[in-house]
Amino acid sequence: MRIVRDPAELAVTERPVGFVPTMGAFHEGHLELMRASARENARTVVSLFVNPTQFAPHEDLSKYPRNEARDAELAEAAGADVLFAPSVDTIYPRHTTEVRVSGVSERFEGAIRPTHFAGVATVVLKLFNMVRPDRAYFGLKDLQQCAVVKRMVEDLNVPVELRFLETVREQDGLAMSSRNVYLSPDERERAPRLHDVLVQLARSLREDPSVLAEELVPAATAALNRHGFEVQYLALVDPESMEPRSKFHSSFRWIVAARLGNIRLIDNVPA
Ligand code: PAF
Repeated sequence: MRIVRDPAELAVTERPVGFVPTMGAFHEGHLELMRASARENARTVVSLFVNPTQFAPHEDLSKYPRNEARDAELAEAAGADVLFAPSVDTIYPRHTTEVRVSGVSERFEGAIRPTHFAGVATVVLKLFNMVRPDRAYFGLKDLQQCAVVKRMVEDLNVPVELRFLETVREQDGLAMSSRNVYLSPDERERAPRLHDVLVQLARSLREDPSVLAEELVPAATAALNRHGFEVQYLALVDPESMEPRSKFHSSFRWIVAARLGNIRLIDNVPA
């Protein structure tokens, strides 16, 4: 596997090229994306770039876990051919152009983190233009990010096929995340309740389609509060538009964001 810092050295001759954009701190979720790309493409490029523009000033940019040597070993073992690890100056020689995806990026995560998705959309488009992949791989754990990237690709006619892969979980159901390492032992024990509650909501709505999603939310929120979570949002959504929905549809998903101590967790499951 080659480690590349300069986009000019990214030229990959064999196609199709699969691309996995990441901010490092790899876990099984990232590695599954890389393995899928390696199976489906002649070459796999993984980017490792902790993108400053998607963090608000009060967020954890400086504390974001970084270990390039470990990540490089894991990426290579998962089938990556190139690890693209540029500097901040390489990606942002200037900050004059920004990609904003209206509507789909405004609710939920976008309401809580108003500058986040412009940072994500801008860096993803820049990375697409540098790597020029045929396919790009994203984890559904960040459901709204998937919706924003999909809309951007459609609106701007970006020539890439998007592949969204289901969330990889710990045995107890906790969604894998680079931030899980910051949970205290007690928080780690309580964290899987987030997934349990989503699974229960999905079951309840499927079993009684006459019930409205919003009627189920107060009891589910109270259950999470009892486990020490501070719920920021909990809703049934259409993952294309990220609009809230009331009635069951098999394409919809239940989404949640909650704080547990100092850690913010997000998760989602199919309706
Ligand atoms: O999901 C992430 O790790 C990041 O948001 C991404 C897509 C690599 C953009 O910085």
